[in-house]
Amino acid sequence: MARLQVNIDHVATVRQARGGVEPDPVHAAVLAELGGASGITIHLREDRRHIQDRDLEILRMTVGTRLNLEMAASDEMVAIACRVRPEQVTLVPEKRQELTTEGGLDVAGNLEHVQRAVRLLRGDGRIVSLFIDPDAGQVAAASAAGASAVELHTGRYALARDAEAARRELAELRRAAQAAASGALVVHAGHGLNYQNTAAVAALPGIEDLNIGHSIVARAVLVGLERAVREMVEIIAAGSHP
Ligand code: PXP
Repeated sequence: MARLQVNIDHVATVRQARGGVEPDPVHAAVLAELGGASGITIHLREDRRHIQDRDLEILRMTVGTRLNLEMAASDEMVAIACRVRPEQVTLVPEKRQELTTEGGLDVAGNLEHVQRAVRLLRGDGRIVSLFIDPDAGQVAAASAAGASAVELHTGRYALARDAEAARRELAELRRAAQAAASGALVVHAGHGLNYQNTAAVAALPGIEDLNIGHSIVARAVLVGLERAVREMVEIIAAGSHP
């Protein structure tokens, strides 16, 4: 059965909107683990737009399942990962202006650079995963780069216009998962997965971990909102003049 790693970046996005201390992604990680998550994923971006260095340091000590650090293959990030030592690192492309990670990493086009980062990161037995498009050439390059896993980008599947396009994208994911598994790579998948489109990806043979963030945080805002409002109403009622 595929396992869920919960990406909590957008809990930090809400915190950064006010530059304060709440909501704390460290608290969200505890609740995600209590909810059954098999791992916690965070993306420490160069511009620190959501997750901060402090979050990484604390989560490294508090996450009891597996901490998966998404990051660019830059010297700065490689040095941070080697110092903080999360159980897993996922290398992703990063552009300053993007709203979220757009395409997969071009491993084939940057083989030496990625190879060097993987070599440094795998040093003490860490899982190093490369976020790639479901493409045979990129799977082969991930193998050549020495990665232990690939995360197949499910964005095109998630954004498919209709059922026929979704079927085609799912077939691409299936083929890439097969190629990766036969090359001894562990297979992860993620991006754009939600409460409607995840089951079909979880059912693909060989998928071990799914990284899901935005849809879970978005749903949490709604299914948890009623209680948050009720508690505030009670506080106001208790403090009001009779
Ligand atoms: N996997 C990778 C590599 C990502 O960059 C992201 C987004 O941060 C995700 C998975 C999660 O995507 P989403 O927030 O759409 O679930």
